[in-house]
Parts: sequence; structure tokens; C-alpha cells
Amino acid sequence: MPRKPENPPDTAARAAARPLLAWYDRHARVLPWRARKGERADPYAVWLSEIMLQQTTVATVGPYFTRFLARWPDVHALAAAPQEEVMKEWAGLGYYSRARNLHACAKAVSSDHGGKFPQDVEGLSKLPGIGPYTAAAIAAIAFGEPATVVDGNVERVVARLFALRTPLPQVKPDIRAKAATLTPERRAGDFAQAMMDLGATVCTPKNPACNRCPLEHLCEAKAEGIAALLPARAPKKERPVRRGACFWLTRGDQVWLRRRPDKGLLGGMMEVPGSPWDMRAAEGAEPGLDHAPLDADWTRVPGSVEHSFTHFHLVLDVYTAATRRKVVPGGGEWVSLDRLAGEALPTVMRKVAAHAMPDAGPLFAKR
Ligand code: ADE
Repeated sequence: MPRKPENPPDTAARAAARPLLAWYDRHARVLPWRARKGERADPYAVWLSEIMLQQTTVATVGPYFTRFLARWPDVHALAAAPQEEVMKEWAGLGYYSRARNLHACAKAVSSDHGGKFPQDVEGLSKLPGIGPYTAAAIAAIAFGEPATVVDGNVERVVARLFALRTPLPQVKPDIRAKAATLTPERRAGDFAQAMMDLGATVCTPKNPACNRCPLEHLCEAKAEGIAALLPARAPKKERPVRRGACFWLTRGDQVWLRRRPDKGLLGGMMEVPGSPWDMRAAEGAEPGLDHAPLDADWTRVPGSVEHSFTHFHLVLDVYTAATRRKVVPGGGEWVSLDRLAGEALPTVMRKVAAHAMPDAGPLFAKR
């Protein structure tokens, strides 16, 4: 009688998880929010980092994460912070609704959950700002739940591993389903982060380093010689260009700033007064001085400020003037130029400040 094999044949999951985790044990990136080997991850730190990492790179997030954690070391401290201070610390990270949701989530966890984050995907998903990706990431990384975590890096690894040729975004459900077959019961958080690290450092978009990949022997795209071509992408639509004017109004060493409405683009952040950003550049529209907050000797600064948002590219003409008026129509406040760096000024407005005061030197320390 043939002897039974001691181990059942490897499932796809075990086949990928084992070499990947062994690779992670040697090559994991050292990142400020990660627990050291053998230590438990702090759910607050995991949550904070995952919110910051939505749409933002690891390199950009690092210093923001460290500053947030130093200033608000736990969820109760963040919940008790004034919203305005949170927005100031967030300034420059972009996608500002994340900061408002972050604060709302801290308040909910602090007051409704006694400061403890729910441990499963379902409970986490009920909190503000936590979508399916972030819920899975927190459940896996902070609590070891075998949740499947799919970000852009993981999408690339999975599309290649299974040689999925359908372009993004149509292929996403397929990628999710395949990724779920890989997720192990144990060390799910390490597995998720290993997939991310593999995508970021080895299975890179342009020149994947297949010879350093622990999954090379399993990779269908590698076997077919098409790794660098996957995932395929539907052609991107060009971003429309919009145009506007804005007004850098000074009074001595102060500048007039106003707060944007809470809802919508750059919600709750500070700005200089300006026109709506709805002029189509292609029509050669010149929003000009019609939208100036008051009559003054406005001078247009040569050139313009450009900034790309997700859905459009913005070109802003900048006008400057000085005034002695104490109050400017339309609301706002005078802010000292030497306090500018601490204001909740989004990147586009930092560019406006630098454009309006080209001789002022660096206005904002690199964040
Ligand atoms: N991107 C999003 N979350 C991440 C994490 N925990 N580690 C590395 N990259 C990430």
C-alpha cells in the first residue's frame, strides 16, 4: 500500500506565503509605524499610518506620522485636539477630507469605544474615513486577522503572479479574488506588509527585479516573459486645465487669509481670496481683477502657479497689493507672515505664497 504523504500538497496559499514571509523576515523595510519583530503593533499607530498612506507615498508620510505621534501619542489625545490644529499638522499631505475624517474617527473611538479600535473588518468599516482597504489593513496588521489587503503594490504583484492580462481598473475584482486565495491564516499582517514591500522594492512597475523575488518560481507572468507589462492599464483621460486668479493682499507684515468651506476640495483649509477655479484655460479666459476682494493697486506677478489635483490641473494668476484696511470684504483674517508656516495652508497656497514673495527665501520648512 502506498504510504500517505506526511504533508498534503501545498495549496497556492501556502506555496506563496511561506517563501514570502521568510523573505520579509530578512528584507522588511524599517518604517516608523511598524512594530519591531516580536512586538505587538499599536493599533492607533497602524490606523494613523494607514490613513496617511491612502494616496500618499511612504517617503512623504514618514515625517508627518512622527510629528502626529509626538504631538498626539494616543487616540484620546488626538480626539481632544482642536480640529484646526489637526488641519495645520496635516497641511501639505493633500486630500484634506482625510484629516477631517481622521479627527472624527479619533473622537468616535475615544468616546464610543473607550479608546480601543474594533478588531474586525466589519467594526472598523463603520468608523469615519475607514474604507474596505483600510479596514482590512488595520485588521490584519494591528490584530492579525486574516483579511486580504489590496493596495496598488499588491495589485501589481498579484496581476503578475497570475498573469492577469485584463487592464486596470476592470481587472480589480479578479485581483481581489486571487489575492484572497493567497492570504494565510497566520501572520496575516506580516503577509500584507510583505506583499506591499515586495511591490515597492522588487516587483516594481518598470524593471521588476525577478532574480531577487522569493515568488519567482510561482510567477506566471515571469514564466511567460511579460512581468514588466503587467498590470495593463486602460489609457488615462487627460486632466482638464482650469484657470483662476488669486489675490495676495498685505498690510505691513501680514497677509489676508480666509478659510475654505468645510465641504469640498481643500475643505477647511486656508487660502488667499480668489476667483472660482472654473475658467477653462483653452478658451483663453482671463479671470483678471473682477474677483479682487477690494479696490487696490493690484499688480500681476509675472508667470503663474500650477498645481495638479486628481481631476484637473490648475493654473492660477497671482495679483499682489498692499492696503491699510483693517477688514477685507468676504471674511478672513490678517496673519503674520512669520506665522504662515504654521497655518493650514495646502500645497497650492504654499506655491502661491512663494510666487507672490519670490525674494522671501524659504517660507516653509520642508515637511
Ligand atoms: N502602504 C500602505 N500601508 C503600508 C504599510 N503598512 N507598509 C508599507 N507600505 C504601506
